[in-house]
Amino acid sequence: MQKGPIAVFDSGYGGLTILQGIRESLPGYDYIYLGDNARTPYGPRSFDVVYEYTLEAVKKLFSLGAHLVILACNTASAKALRTIQQNDLPHIDSDRRVLGVIRPSVEAVDRITKSGHVGVVGTVGTVLSESYPLEIKKISPGIIVEQEACPMWVPLVENNEFAGPGADYFVKKNLDALFGRDLEIDTLVLGCTHYPILLDKIKKYTPEGVKIISQGDIVGESLKDYLRRHPEMDEKCTRGGAVKFYTTEHPDKFRQTAGIFFDGDIHVEHLEL
Ligand code: DGL
Repeated sequence: MQKGPIAVFDSGYGGLTILQGIRESLPGYDYIYLGDNARTPYGPRSFDVVYEYTLEAVKKLFSLGAHLVILACNTASAKALRTIQQNDLPHIDSDRRVLGVIRPSVEAVDRITKSGHVGVVGTVGTVLSESYPLEIKKISPGIIVEQEACPMWVPLVENNEFAGPGADYFVKKNLDALFGRDLEIDTLVLGCTHYPILLDKIKKYTPEGVKIISQGDIVGESLKDYLRRHPEMDEKCTRGGAVKFYTTEHPDKFRQTAGIFFDGDIHVEHLEL
């Protein structure tokens, strides 16, 4: 058996915030990151298309040597993960694994909320999939979940407008709507990889005392725990502290924007899916 890096996949740049968190928790491992920047955003796309694109990416990452792929994209986790785990992995290679970002976030919700009222912000696709309410209710059926789709937040981040007045306008608008529907919300899940970049604005318009769950740290700690519980997978992961980046777009384009999401050197290559 050939060992390989841990793969982190996202529709574009946002998964870099998750990779950052994973590397803080597990710095010694090797990673490959793939951003499907040529076909981003996934948020507004149909289930079938997100599933098809995500499956292509997973197969490619397996072919690059990864035994473990993290879908560091809420939309892909919401729309493709379950089908890939249940229908595709048994045919592709039953020893390889694909994990998402929703389950770890939901487990954190269960630990944090006291009022039992939780808010979730995400892309239109993630919100319409109902993945967060469904997964939260599996763990804690009594928790009340209020969701808000924030379609302008990803473009604000990608266009470098996350610190400007446009961000104030849209973040306030969406959070006012969310908290206006349920004043008892005490926990807010940032259910999209881009949203940590808007954290300053999100904090500004979130009522005092509400805990904000940002996925980078949570996914990192959850992966650490997973590898502890699955030594057979841990053994298949190479350790050298290296990260290789791939994009389906032009590498120059990726490099220009990736710095918003990731601190550190980015040597990126083009990859065809
Ligand atoms: N990465 C996506 C997510 O977490 C946001 C960007 C997109 O819509 O592709 O939902």
